[in-house]
Amino acid sequence: MDLLSVDKTLCIHCGSCAVACPRGLIRLEQGWPVSAQEDLCIACGHCVAVCPVAALDNRRTPLFAQSGLSTVAIDDETMRSVLRSRRSIRSFKNNPVERQKLLQLMDIARFAPSGGNSQGISYIIIDERQVLQQLNEHAIQWMENQSAAATAAAPVYRQYVAMYRQQGKDSVLRNAPCLIVATAAASFARGRENSLLSLAYVELYSPSLKLGSCWAGLLEGAAFAGYEPVLNLLAIPAEKQLTGLLMVGHPECRFHRLPDRLPLDISFRNKQAPR
Ligand SMILES: Cc1cc2nc3c(=O)[nH]c(=O)nc-3n(C[C@H](O)[C@H](O)[C@H](O)COP(=O)(O)O)c2cc1C
Repeated sequence: MDLLSVDKTLCIHCGSCAVACPRGLIRLEQGWPVSAQEDLCIACGHCVAVCPVAALDNRRTPLFAQSGLSTVAIDDETMRSVLRSRRSIRSFKNNPVERQKLLQLMDIARFAPSGGNSQGISYIIIDERQVLQQLNEHAIQWMENQSAAATAAAPVYRQYVAMYRQQGKDSVLRNAPCLIVATAAASFARGRENSLLSLAYVELYSPSLKLGSCWAGLLEGAAFAGYEPVLNLLAIPAEKQLTGLLMVGHPECRFHRLPDRLPLDISFRNKQAPR
């Protein structure tokens, strides 16, 4: 079976499918879309999704699996406000997050951009309080080991250690009831960047489910440094690599203002007269 099939009673020969193909694999032959080098198709679904009359199907990304798209009318101010109001959440209620809700949250990760539509990220969710506490304790021990070195990070590590040892605060996992562990195949070079984008989607989606999230960069530091006690607890399967860690839970407080950030640093390059 060919990669593409065209319903010739519907096709209007607009050529949108050819324009949309990121790898230029579709051409029109006597007005009908045909594909070349099918092995190079990345199954992004754009050719099918862009067809205004649902005339095109693609074996690798079938029409039946695509849902209709109602016109999304979010004005720029609303969208900007949604994006700006995303916050790293560092205090969580004690209650666990229902598994069903976690599944709903994580499903959005599938729709993040990925290099060449490679996707390839899988997740382990640790929601066992005792394991999370042990992870926190081990990350603290790792930071204690690091804090003796003359590095820029050492004073920061000492502060997080003091928060934990002197004030009893979970400065690593913030008492979050869940830790999302993103993984990819050990040989997958795009694992980290695809995970960063996927987990960014999760972060942005979480407030709409009344959840909050925060990157667990300190724990990542210990894990990426190969600290065995942390790696043993994370228990990533041998054929996989760790690609990201995100804490999730019900936020304990809400924010009332939008903090500012550094001004936009941007320049244009165009030798012709500016528009
Ligand atoms: C890769 C990465 C790692 C992070 N690690 C931690 C962390 O270990 N602990 C923490 O409290 N916040 C962590 N954060 C959250 C940042 O501190 C936070 O994004 C930043 O202060 C801006 O605040 P905002 O996210 O609310 O805008 C991390 C963020 C990123 C992107």
